[in-house]
Amino acid sequence: MLHPVILSGGSGTRLWPRSRSNTPKQFLPLVGDETLLQATALRVKAMQDVAPVITVCAEDHRFMVGEQLQAIGMPSGGILLEPAARNTAPAIALAALHVQQQDAQGVMLVLPADHLIRDEPAFRDAVMAGLAQAHAGALVTFGIKPDAPVTGYGYIRIGQPLDARVHAIGAFVEKPDVERARTYLDSGEYLWNSGMFLFRADAYLEALKKHAPAILVAARAAYDAATGDLDFIRVDADAFATSPSDSIDYAVMERATNAAVVPVDCGWSDVGSWSSLWEVADRDVDGNVQLGDTLAIDTGDSYLQAADDRLVAALGVRDLIVVDTADAVLVAHRDRVQDVKMLVDRLKAEG
Ligand code: GDD
Ligand code: MG
Repeated sequence: MLHPVILSGGSGTRLWPRSRSNTPKQFLPLVGDETLLQATALRVKAMQDVAPVITVCAEDHRFMVGEQLQAIGMPSGGILLEPAARNTAPAIALAALHVQQQDAQGVMLVLPADHLIRDEPAFRDAVMAGLAQAHAGALVTFGIKPDAPVTGYGYIRIGQPLDARVHAIGAFVEKPDVERARTYLDSGEYLWNSGMFLFRADAYLEALKKHAPAILVAARAAYDAATGDLDFIRVDADAFATSPSDSIDYAVMERATNAAVVPVDCGWSDVGSWSSLWEVADRDVDGNVQLGDTLAIDTGDSYLQAADDRLVAALGVRDLIVVDTADAVLVAHRDRVQDVKMLVDRLKAEG
């Protein structure tokens, strides 16, 4: 039995002004009719022999998670509530402890709530291909062929083959600088880490014990003292607060010696910024994405989104992102979308 775990704790600041702290991007229908969280759940719902989905999210988002899963008829295996964000390593630890309670050697499939996958059969096939190594105790990742020296991803050097589809990981480098990213890209020996993981709950907890024991101690204390109502599992706030804040990538994957990778070509994208949304959306002949009531003349390669009941008109511009919402408008060059986070930080600082 495979235990799907959805990580839904990110804040998605680079998609401001649509993504807000009370409704981060994973809860929005950014592409298509379903929200990113729902699309993630539906992806596993279609798989054979899967347990109900476990979600890990911030306390404040619990009703949104519950309602969105219910709306698609997704059985829930519990919604673990984090009293504070401590990044992915502790979040996955809570899920691993929860899985272990039901299934001592259970294998978990960890999925970020904010990715798009266009070729779902290829994705499911890759998960199946990784299962044997996961059962054998490996920490399995899914590797994407890189096409640009992106610095926001983890890079995986492909090592020795372990079986027909799976390789050992030669090296794992989380978020390298651009020079190193370019070297990795040019070498042809590296894949991007997709951010999805497949491993036995006990294998992950064992890895934490070895590489980040303080996270394990805090997560265990928080989970052991948890209280539950309905589907919600409230972990102990004081105990969880003592956890170091770190991602699985830095805390575990860079250090683990039992890591493996399944190379996969499944139309994966991390919809982290406006330019990545522009890339995955349907564009017209001029390369524009136009959503809502928009008018574009002599405009190219732009992303234009109107708010309800309002028109966005563009004339003689290129490579622009214009996103109108009820209370804020973003106008940004398509090359600067990574810095939208800067805008949000500034707005927060100015109150
Ligand atoms: N529950 C919970 N709690 N979820 C969290 C937390 C947290 O504290 N922090 C992040 N998440 C969720 C996010 O919502 C997202 O779905 C996922 O965990 C990954 O977090 P990101 O913050 O988006 O990580 P990243 O994009 O910088 O890097 C990861 O993903 C890349 C691919 O998209 C890494 O795994 C990289 O190695 C990888 O290349
Ligand atoms: Mg991400």
